[in-house]
Amino acid sequence: MTEQAYLYTDTIFKKPVPRTPVWIMRQAGRYLPEYKKVRDNYDFLTVCKTPELAAEVTLQPIRRFGFDAAILFSDILVVPEALGQKLEFLENHGPRLSPQILSETEVQNLDDNNLEERLSYVEKTVSLLRRELPVNTPLIGFSGSPFTLAVYMIEGKPTRNFKYIKSIIYKEPALLINLLDKLSEAVTRYLIMQIKAGAQAIQIFDTWGGILPIHLFEKFSADYMKRIVGKIKAFNVPVTLFSRGGISLLKKLRDSGADMLGVDWLTDIAEARKEAGDIAALQGNLDPATLYGSKEIISGEIDRILNAFGRESGHVFNLGHGILPDTPVDNVSFLVDYVWEKSTAIRNP
Ligand code: CP3
Repeated sequence: MTEQAYLYTDTIFKKPVPRTPVWIMRQAGRYLPEYKKVRDNYDFLTVCKTPELAAEVTLQPIRRFGFDAAILFSDILVVPEALGQKLEFLENHGPRLSPQILSETEVQNLDDNNLEERLSYVEKTVSLLRRELPVNTPLIGFSGSPFTLAVYMIEGKPTRNFKYIKSIIYKEPALLINLLDKLSEAVTRYLIMQIKAGAQAIQIFDTWGGILPIHLFEKFSADYMKRIVGKIKAFNVPVTLFSRGGISLLKKLRDSGADMLGVDWLTDIAEARKEAGDIAALQGNLDPATLYGSKEIISGEIDRILNAFGRESGHVFNLGHGILPDTPVDNVSFLVDYVWEKSTAIRNP
């Protein structure tokens, strides 16, 4: 644990801050020319698994934009791979995990022995980054939520109708619960490994929690995230939960013990503040597509979001989901500068 104070962590703990911190989900990636250059020579998984390359692409957006936090460059699907599924990223088709997990035997065959060893490249990347990051830039480690990982493990690839996971929810819930138990253990160990290696904050991505009917969201997603938050609390690093699916999910996560909740772009941020802002800090929630718009539109939307908090601490500026490919780099620079300037001005009227 470090004694260094950061704008990002101070904000999460609602200490008074001079301005609103900003970082962007998927801030390292294909919209950046320097990332594309690395990818011309190495495939995506090679970048993830080579600590020097993963550290380099983590640093790229920090150098270019000066974001207030860095996020480890990796992918949520390296955990299913470490448990024994085969992982591939097919150009223009996204990830493939095989074989799909469709039976109790396949759940039992997932092997969590030596999980840390199989993911030791992540541990190395984190330690490298802690040496290379600017002293005022904290490193966010991350994992997928157990439910979101289960969706990919059961479907095997991105899906529109979630046929396999939804069938299992209704036909064989016990199988899913066994898988979620196993994943909760694995995710907890994986996050503790990242914290011990130097991650100063954690974010759990629950990208698909919102496909559940709301009355099942706690049972299949939120409760497992709560369990993980409870177990990593002792390490004293702030934890953010990001679920995608509107205000009703946020209400269910209010009492999760998380220090910060991600707000997606479906949610009105002022309403989010009313519903959960007294309990947790909030992060979000500009629609990523706004960055295709004019600077006038972008600044107007940023104003709206910043005004929902006024001079109060407890808000980390971010998008409501990951940045889209082909986002103009210039608009990202504009966003960062504008959030800094405007949030400083709001605090010093
Ligand atoms: O935020 C960052 O900059 C850190 C790196 C990061 C990546 N993936 C790199 C990546 C993080 C935090 C993730 C998380 C992730 N991965 C999530 C949860 C967050 C979310 O966006 O909902 C999910 C669902 C995945 C799974 C995944 N990885 C998919 C579906 C895809 C293909 C679609 C896509 O966006 O390309 C990926 C690939 C991926 N992960 C890329 C990057 C930079 C693109 C790979 C490339 O270079 O071609």
